[in-house]
Amino acid sequence: MADADIKKGLAGVVVDTTAISKVNPETNSLLYRGYPVQELAATQPFEAVAFLLWSGELPDAAQLEAFQKSERALRPLDERTVALLDLIPLDAHPMDVVRTVVSQLGTFDETLNRPGGWTDPDLDLGRALYLFAQLPTIVAAVQRRRRGLEPIAPRDDLDYSANFLWMTFGELPSEAAIDVFRISMVLYAEHSFNASTFTARVIASTTSDLYSAVVGAIGALKGPLHGGANEAVMHIFDEIGSAENVVPWLDDALAKKKKIMGFGHRVYKNGDSRVPTMKAALDRLIAESGRTDLGELYDALEKEFVARKGIYPNLDYPSGPAYNILGFETEVFTPLFIAARVTGWTAHIMEQAASNALIRPLSAYNGVDERHVS
Ligand code: ACO
Repeated sequence: MADADIKKGLAGVVVDTTAISKVNPETNSLLYRGYPVQELAATQPFEAVAFLLWSGELPDAAQLEAFQKSERALRPLDERTVALLDLIPLDAHPMDVVRTVVSQLGTFDETLNRPGGWTDPDLDLGRALYLFAQLPTIVAAVQRRRRGLEPIAPRDDLDYSANFLWMTFGELPSEAAIDVFRISMVLYAEHSFNASTFTARVIASTTSDLYSAVVGAIGALKGPLHGGANEAVMHIFDEIGSAENVVPWLDDALAKKKKIMGFGHRVYKNGDSRVPTMKAALDRLIAESGRTDLGELYDALEKEFVARKGIYPNLDYPSGPAYNILGFETEVFTPLFIAARVTGWTAHIMEQAASNALIRPLSAYNGVDERHVS
């Protein structure tokens, strides 16, 4: 096989069809089930976006109410999860903790043991809802535990976004802050065949179960070339310190051939369609909190890096500082991405199962020629 036939990183390869989302780098647009993500971010509760991704349509008022009721009933942590959290080292990375707990949730699901139960589409929708409802409670508990605090029980009088922040901080921030958080969840929910979603689809393609596919997806999301970049962006901001240090810091980083986290994208080469919406949301938080230092650093690094390399920010660049202002610890940023993206992952797992072909690419061998023992 000629080297030219090898599509390293599957760059440019179309692997399958999907009806869940459309990423169009030419028009810099992103559609979930046909709706522009900006319109959804401007108008929809996150629960409605999950419903849309799974069912193909936005819910009407009665459907949304019923969906929210089911979601709220599934929020509380099982006592075995509380016990598991106590066994995990306090300094374990939150991505590893959440991955472990999601794996445990799979062991609670007795329907997996039924013949054919692994891939029953009716059961998979319920499992997706269960993970969607549990993840905020898990992530909030992980954040509180890192601060030496007890978990806070979910409130069933609050919607997804307000309840998530309530369980994390024990108080409700301003309406504007809750709205920024909701927007970040909507923007993070789905993005076609990115690395973690593709991982989930590969696992689903073996007719493994939904929990296993989500656990694998979490592993893929952790890497800083993918979801881990929102954490890495904040480490960079901390390292640079303030806007006036941007130029010498960047001189040094580029001389060392470092990748600047939060910039660049495999599909978007002229800017990420989600960034303007998230940047506007971040600006609202900066105005409300008075954290103009962070805003100045953000602008200075973007201006300097784009001028030098012509590589634009991706969604992780504005979401990192937004989560910082909201009060999350840096290591908890990527688990927030899990809570959002579990909607897209599970939609893809169900789509893969509905029209499955085992995903099994080929490789070109470049090791030693055939040889024999002795
Ligand atoms: N900093 C410095 N240089 C970069 C960056 C960056 N962030 N991104 C791309 N480049 C350079 C590469 O070094 C390479 O240069 P070269 O041709 O001189 O070797 C060129 O641009 C092409 O980059 P690749 O990494 O080959 O392009 P690819 O499409 O594989 O990369 C990726 C996409 C992995 C996201 C890359 O831009 C990157 O590493 N960015 C930083 C990590 C990041 O922010 N990830 C989040 C992705 S979005 C998300 O998950 C929400």
